[in-house]
Amino acid sequence: MVALDGPSGTGKTTVARKLAARLSAGYLDTGAMYRAITVAVLRAGVDPADAAAVAELARGAELEIGTSPVRPHLLLGGRDVATDIRGADVTSAVSAVSSVPEVRELLVAEQRRIIEDVIATKGGIVVEGRDIGTVVTPDAPLKVYLTASASIRAARRNAQDSAAGRESTVDAALQSVERRDHLDSTRATSPLRAAEDAVPVDTSELKIDQVIIALSELANQRGLLTGCTAEVAQ
Ligand code: DC
Repeated sequence: MVALDGPSGTGKTTVARKLAARLSAGYLDTGAMYRAITVAVLRAGVDPADAAAVAELARGAELEIGTSPVRPHLLLGGRDVATDIRGADVTSAVSAVSSVPEVRELLVAEQRRIIEDVIATKGGIVVEGRDIGTVVTPDAPLKVYLTASASIRAARRNAQDSAAGRESTVDAALQSVERRDHLDSTRATSPLRAAEDAVPVDTSELKIDQVIIALSELANQRGLLTGCTAEVAQ
């Protein structure tokens, strides 16, 4: 099991999916779960700042998340929300929703259940989020904390949004990245921070493939590779 934490725009999702595919492991995007609950909140017309109403909605939400690194699906009430969760409305409301303690409790329990299941069936999983190494699985054999400068992360986010046809500018992306960093790292419950035993990896000057090689080596050192050692170790 690999726990991959860090703020947005560090390349976490791409790195986690590629690493999982290389290790023949499963993949879990915990941010997508908080985003899906946020979609439910916005669709119901609930104020994301109304913690009691958000918690009640989260308790009733029917969430199903796939763990394939190639094509991870995400269903809310049986309907595909994989595209909706990336909308700007969701991105700006997700920090409020994910700061509600009951929402975290529900999703962390679900994440632990999925992780256990996937480890039993596939032998391993790469999990990305903000609190994986600190709260969800503090016993993970490999914890990595990805970082990158705010300006680089904003440029990456802007490029991703533009490529996906979403309206975006570098300035707006920078504001959004800084706002979310602040909210995510100052919230009372499970704030974003590196676990003491996490390996920090600054991706500012690295290409994705270089990050994958570095993490594959770390996984190899910890005996987490099964069947693909030769390819990965090079
Ligand atoms: O990784 P992402 O941008 O899709 O995450 C969306 C939000 O969800 C992010 O602003 C913080 C929150 N989050 C969290 O609180 N805990 C996690 N394990 C994952 C995401």
